[in-house]
Amino acid sequence: MSLAPNQSAVAFPATDAEPIAVVGAGYVGLVTGACLAATGRSVTLIEIDRGRREMIAQGEPPIYEPGLSTMLRRVTDSGALRVSADLIAALESVRMVVLAVGTPPLPDGRADLRALDGVAAMIAEHAAPDTVVVIKSTVPPGTGRRLQRSLDRTANRLHVVNCPEFLREGCAIEDVSNADRFVVGGTDEAAMNRVIAALNPFATSVVRTSNTGAELVKYGSNAFLAMKISFINEIANLCDLVGANIDEVALGMGLDPRICVASMKAGLGYGGSCFPKDVAALEQAARREGLSFWLLRSATEVNEQQRIRFVQKICAAVGGQVEGRTVALLGLAFKPGTDDLRQAPSIAIANRLVELGAIVVAHDPVAMDAARSQIPDVEFAVDPYEAVTGADVVAVVTEWPEYKCLDWSAIASMVHCRIVVDGRNCIDPELLAEHGFDYHGMGRPSVLSLSGHRSVDGAAAVSPERVA
Ligand code: UGA
Repeated sequence: MSLAPNQSAVAFPATDAEPIAVVGAGYVGLVTGACLAATGRSVTLIEIDRGRREMIAQGEPPIYEPGLSTMLRRVTDSGALRVSADLIAALESVRMVVLAVGTPPLPDGRADLRALDGVAAMIAEHAAPDTVVVIKSTVPPGTGRRLQRSLDRTANRLHVVNCPEFLREGCAIEDVSNADRFVVGGTDEAAMNRVIAALNPFATSVVRTSNTGAELVKYGSNAFLAMKISFINEIANLCDLVGANIDEVALGMGLDPRICVASMKAGLGYGGSCFPKDVAALEQAARREGLSFWLLRSATEVNEQQRIRFVQKICAAVGGQVEGRTVALLGLAFKPGTDDLRQAPSIAIANRLVELGAIVVAHDPVAMDAARSQIPDVEFAVDPYEAVTGADVVAVVTEWPEYKCLDWSAIASMVHCRIVVDGRNCIDPELLAEHGFDYHGMGRPSVLSLSGHRSVDGAAAVSPERVA
């Protein structure tokens, strides 16, 4: 069963699946809860933040996620999804509790499990016998086993089952309803079967593991994808130096099914609340066991370098220095389809440009409100055209679809200098050249057109490598 966002809960037959409480109405908890409610399940979301609760109760998502607002309104209207602050009351009526609380990074990279442990302590005290505790939060290897041991000390038979989530922000509903695997890890077969019956209405292929196995599937998947992105970014950096085109190289590599084209888009690297945090947490977990996971350290270093390289490219493109120059930043969210700014490359890039003396004017279709406090010295524009007006260089940071079809002939007469530095390789260099722009991508050959080649004061464009 695949679930289109606009499908109503009433379109699904009533289900005898057991009612579920989902603790934590963040990205994972909210989307998972809404999708399960849309299949007719009875879901109670437990959320401590009053503002979030009030919004959800009115069917308004507190996050931007395509399709979620229609779905949420329907499931709250139908009563399939309710929201509450009272976990203890919910534990009186459910025997299946899904933990979707945050596990943010501590300063040393380890996952902060305080929220998870706090909820587990309440469950230990108040859950009825045979309650299944499902860990959907991303947790380090060994967490589920440790939790099971501590719940075993209670008189009730409580079962811990790990059931990691693989949804991506921006296409979360599609990812939940059309997932490629349903991983369920535990020691009690009956409890695992109950989790499959309650939480896998989409009949996704099931992979059964131990608790720790499921935890490593999640960390291993995110870390592998992050590593793949850093790998292709290093190939792109080499393309810059040897004069090859990363688009051709990535395609040529990715058509090998053992490599595959997914997660092979070179650019500014990965951000968001998952990859940077999970790579660091997996590295920490390995280190605690005496294993130096060198590949993960390298993935992180390459990722951080990409942002620096991009700033260097911007400097180089305007003649070596951005001081006093106006930079139009197109895109702030860590990727298109979300207003999430966590670990977004845009923040580090904007702050660095300001430090270097640039005047930065930014635009994002949905993330500007959230960005204001993080980049206080940046000006915000109501649309991309206002952002580029008077700019010495246009820097593309997030590949929003609207930036891919901008009217470059109009922009040519709005900018101060016709220079584009494309951090996501999402703009057609030939199209820009037709309108007299210089184009610099990430691992793509630069296109230097006569009119854009020189900034207005006549400083010649410099190759990024010379500046770096
Ligand atoms: C990621 C995983 O893809 C999900 O499977 C997982 O469930 C989720 O983390 C999680 O742990 O909760 P997400 O962070 O939403 O999902 O975003 P992705 O679409 O995977 O992108 C992550 C970052 O990598 C973005 O900054 C994106 O711009 C970057 N990226 C992605 C690239 O630079 N190149 C690519 O080819 C793909």
